[in-house]
Amino acid sequence: MEKLRIGIIGAGGIAQGRHIPVLLQLQQEAEVTAVCDVNEETARQAGVSFSRPYVTTHVHEVFSRVDAVIISTPNKFHSQITIAALEAGVHVLCEKPMAMSAGEAQAMTAAADKTGKTLMIGYHYRSMREAQAAKTLIDAGEIGTPMVARVQALRRRKVPGWGVFTNKELQGGGSLIDFGCHFLDLALWLLGSPEPVEVVGQTYDRLSRMPGQINQWGDVDQESFEVDDHVTAYVRFDNGATLLFETSWAANVKEDKEYCSISGSTGGVDLFPLEVNQAKHGMLLDSTANWVPGSDDPGLFQMQRFFAAVRGEAPVYVPPIDSLKTQQLIDAIYESSVTGEAVRL
Ligand SMILES: NC(=O)c1ccc[n+]([C@@H]2O[C@H](COP(=O)([O-])OP(=O)(O)OC[C@H]3O[C@@H](n4cnc5c(N)ncnc54)[C@H](O)[C@@H]3O)[C@@H](O)[C@H]2O)c1
Repeated sequence: MEKLRIGIIGAGGIAQGRHIPVLLQLQQEAEVTAVCDVNEETARQAGVSFSRPYVTTHVHEVFSRVDAVIISTPNKFHSQITIAALEAGVHVLCEKPMAMSAGEAQAMTAAADKTGKTLMIGYHYRSMREAQAAKTLIDAGEIGTPMVARVQALRRRKVPGWGVFTNKELQGGGSLIDFGCHFLDLALWLLGSPEPVEVVGQTYDRLSRMPGQINQWGDVDQESFEVDDHVTAYVRFDNGATLLFETSWAANVKEDKEYCSISGSTGGVDLFPLEVNQAKHGMLLDSTANWVPGSDDPGLFQMQRFFAAVRGEAPVYVPPIDSLKTQQLIDAIYESSVTGEAVRL
């Protein structure tokens, strides 16, 4: 098997914390041949673990040197770099969120369709063992028809105080587009990817804009804070399913929570931890998983699925059409909060 030549574009936190350690584990399958960052020193540092990759600050110098790229820049650049890579004949694993808007996500999806190259978005919660197990149970009919999804992705006073996470121009939003997006993707996938038809949403920034707030993840300047830190939403789908959604970087709650629960017509499944409840044989039964297959490292599983798709061995694990739907929900939640009205899709 020929090794895949990989380029890293945007060599900051997630590239160094997740993708590079994973790529070092997969050196039998792939080698990093190019690293690009607008900060040359960051690119150089990120490349030191590999045998002499090409280091550049110019995205377009990467494409002729690689088969695939991992895009981990701020959100503003996801769409333009993805489309340029696809059009240059390069496969793309792009970090989440897919883009800043559904319009951009649509253009990325169209570019993938046109070029026939792989485009996968880094919604890695799908790659968690519990999520895969829940999907297996739902697809096997263990909860009947999925009807109601409940999601809570809450952090207690943990607004990211580093990087550009609170910069609207570069990120497009805050807790929703950064953290909640993972759970929108997860819930949509577990519900069977129904079409959203109506969205009501509300965003908040009050806490982070008040002076003197306690924040566990560094300093946040309340004067320049310009994104959401807490978001709630209600989504209705074409098949009658609904999603109750809440996410926050800075909730006033006792502890952080990552919760996703799907109620179906005959049972339900909860994630993190995985539990199934069923009505069967005149009984109400609860089961927990003693062991589920898969990797403990969703970043590793995600990269393996990406490589399999690039080699044509498996369908794209997080297909762009799903991530486009997630982006439409993000847009609609933000729009509903501004207008105060329900948004029809
Ligand atoms: N999957 C996850 O759970 C997860 C976690 C963290 C971040 N992310 C995503 O990864 C992306 C990057 O986040 P991060 O935490 O690594 O941020 P970061 O600020 O640590 O790193 C971003 C890097 O991109 C570089 N950069 C900026 N513009 C560029 C451009 N036009 N071309 C090339 N390089 C450019 C910056 O110099 C920086 O080194 C974001 O989209 C974020 O949403 C995903």
